[in-house]
Amino acid sequence: MTERARKTARKLLRKELPERWQHTLGVARRAAELAGAVPRDEGPLLIAAAWLHDIGYSSELQLTGFHPIDGGLYLRERGWDPRLVALVAHHSGARYVPVDRGFSEIMATFPFEESPLSDALTYADQTVGPNGVRMTVEYRIAEAITRHGPNSPNARARVDRVPYLLAAAQRVRDRLHHVGQPAVRPGQ
Ligand SMILES: [Fe+2]
Repeated sequence: MTERARKTARKLLRKELPERWQHTLGVARRAAELAGAVPRDEGPLLIAAAWLHDIGYSSELQLTGFHPIDGGLYLRERGWDPRLVALVAHHSGARYVPVDRGFSEIMATFPFEESPLSDALTYADQTVGPNGVRMTVEYRIAEAITRHGPNSPNARARVDRVPYLLAAAQRVRDRLHHVGQPAVRPGQ
C-alpha cells in the first residue's frame, strides 16, 4: 500500500506541483520517523496517508476545490482502504475549514478518526512547510495563515482548528517521549 501510495502521489503532484511534491516527500519522511507514536501495525498506513494527504491539490482531482475532500473523494472512488480515505479527507483538522464553505455534508460522509494515527499524520503535515522545509507546528500555522490570506477559510477556521493542531502535536510529542524517542526538532 505504501508503494502504491507513493506512486500515486508522484504521478499527480511531481510535475504539476513541484513545491507540493517536495512538501509531500518531507511529510512522508517525517511520518516514517513517527512510527513510535502509532501502534506498531499502523506504521504503513501512516506513511501511505502521508504520501496521499495532499493529492487533492492536483488539477486532475478538482471537484469541490477543497483539497482534503477532493483527495478523499478520488481515493474512495478508486477503492482505497476506507480508513486511509478518511484520514486524507480529515488531515490536519480539515473539518474545521469547510464549515462556512458548504462542505460539511460531504465531509460528514468521511468518518472522523481521532487517534494516535490521525495525530501523527497531522503532526507530520504541520512540521513540514510547502517546499519540504521542516518547521515547528507554531511556525507552520502562522505561515499557512499568511500564505492563504487573513480572510481565507483557513484563517477564519483558526479559532477551532489551531487548538486542535496544537493539541494533536502535544499528544504526539508525549507519545514519542513515552517510547523514549525525542520529538524531531525542526531543521533536522
Ligand atoms: Fe500537507
